[in-house]
Amino acid sequence: MDVIGVLVSGAGSNLQALIDDGLPVVAVASNNQAARALDRARAAGIDAAAFPLDDYPGREKRDTAMADWLALRGVELVVTAGYMHLLTEPFLERFPDRIVNVHPSLLPDFPGAHAVEEALAAGVPETGATVHLVDAGIDTGPVLVQEPVPVRDDDTPETLHARIQLVEHRLLPRAVRSLLA
Ligand code: GRF
Repeated sequence: MDVIGVLVSGAGSNLQALIDDGLPVVAVASNNQAARALDRARAAGIDAAAFPLDDYPGREKRDTAMADWLALRGVELVVTAGYMHLLTEPFLERFPDRIVNVHPSLLPDFPGAHAVEEALAAGVPETGATVHLVDAGIDTGPVLVQEPVPVRDDDTPETLHARIQLVEHRLLPRAVRSLLA
């Protein structure tokens, strides 16, 4: 069976959902040394490492180092779970059609880093969660699965995001499992 590498930048609740689902996560990498997600990985006995941009001459070199590190651990399927940097060609080429992202909106609506705030500001009656394949664009790859989440009148970005994340934690492990060879 394919083994999974996960890229993270922050809290790592989606990483936790993958681990709790029993998926074969063998490596977790982050751009951010202080990401709580790295602690979650280590607590689960998973190899974890940070690849801060400052340590490299540029993004391509950093992404190459990160891809090498994952490949060394046998990773064939990559999940970006709250990973906040765009991936460059050297990384994308190493895992063609094998990188999965989770995003807090019904793509193609509200791509980018402020999806929840933008959905609230737009006054849409519903937004949601999407799991999709990653390409070179910002949240533009083919959609694998998505589920709507109603917006409430009294929602703040925090309350809305919390309900979207409950959906993400259910959708992401299911979608990833279906991609395992
Ligand atoms: C998720 O809501 C994801 O959709 C977005 O960033 C958030 C990451 O949360 N891209 P976590 O680090 O998995 O808790």
